[in-house]
Amino acid sequence: MTSARLNRIQVSATLAIAKLAAEIAREGKDVITLNLGEPDFRTPRHICKSTIQSLRRGDTHYTPSAGIPELVEAIAKKFHADNRLDVSSDQILVTAGAKQAVFMAIQAVLDEGDDAILLDPSWVTYDACIRYAGARTAWAPTDHDFMPLDLGEQITDKTKLIIINSPNNPTGAVFDRKYLEEIADLAIENDIMVLSDEIYEKIIYGKTHFSIGSFDGMHDRVITINGFSKSYAMTGWRLGYMAAPADVTRAALKLQSHSVSHATSFVQHAGITALCSDQSLVDTMTSEFRARRDILVGGLNSLGFDCKKPDGAFYVFLNVSEYGGGDAFAERLLREAYIAVTPGSAFGPGGADYIRISYAASRERIYDALKRIGDTIA
Ligand SMILES: Cc1ncc(COP(=O)(O)O)c(C=O)c1O
Repeated sequence: MTSARLNRIQVSATLAIAKLAAEIAREGKDVITLNLGEPDFRTPRHICKSTIQSLRRGDTHYTPSAGIPELVEAIAKKFHADNRLDVSSDQILVTAGAKQAVFMAIQAVLDEGDDAILLDPSWVTYDACIRYAGARTAWAPTDHDFMPLDLGEQITDKTKLIIINSPNNPTGAVFDRKYLEEIADLAIENDIMVLSDEIYEKIIYGKTHFSIGSFDGMHDRVITINGFSKSYAMTGWRLGYMAAPADVTRAALKLQSHSVSHATSFVQHAGITALCSDQSLVDTMTSEFRARRDILVGGLNSLGFDCKKPDGAFYVFLNVSEYGGGDAFAERLLREAYIAVTPGSAFGPGGADYIRISYAASRERIYDALKRIGDTIA
């Protein structure tokens, strides 16, 4: 009885693992959840406080579908200041999470029969959105540092979109300017659009984040997506945004107006507070992530794994081919050590030998996990 369109996709693999881990936890086991893509910090107090004020003020009604003008303006200013992107208000769309922006942007651009290029590995949702649009994913290999490898070879006359994500989920890789310039050159030469998912922009360790939309000749072919979930620990609030050429934004807006209508009214007000207030808490959270990354990577290497320090996000993508590959090792960790991680195969065909470990967990839990991993492989 279900539509053929929806039969093309499966429920998110990351959510499926979370469900299994929750089942094991319900049996009374102490499961260490290193599978989640969400900061374990509380949403900053001043953001919560301003939301309570917003509710008291009565910001509880429908808003314009594209977002309240004050938030759209704050986003335009943020793009200008942080990303050197100059976008007008009719190019911006406020969405119910960056995931909603990714979904709508892909539906706005791709037709049946088109090709979209994804770097292998990539975050799980892109491929599902491409399939839902009736298009095909062309997986482009990456090198041992998860940087694009011969991307140009994947381009056909059907290629309409390249999707990039730096800092990256699941690898933690941050693309240098050189790689982004190569992608920009390919996009211009072949008249292809680029979707740049920059949600981990602020969670970066000593490297510089570049927005490909700010590069020469790219303004009219880039969709830039960002959100509040990761930088401000606001995953449950569901607030994200995109900036795109005005026709793409208009197309996505049609979909938004007939589905969620708009992001939640008082949550949009919280977004203004997040963007316009002191940003030092973002740096505090990032320094803590950095310390946890160092503990995790150091611990894994002392257990005999070969693990480089990722430059951004809060994931380690670990090669476990020695232990039967990602699917088998993730299952073993869950069943024997009660540690939930995500098998790399969820992120593309090239991820089969890997697991993704999220270090958005306390230092104590990371130390515990390292001990349990050591016991499991001993
Ligand atoms: C690469 C990437 N993009 C987008 C999202 C979605 O974020 P949001 O919570 O804003 O929908 C995630 C969340 O895991 C992500 O990892």
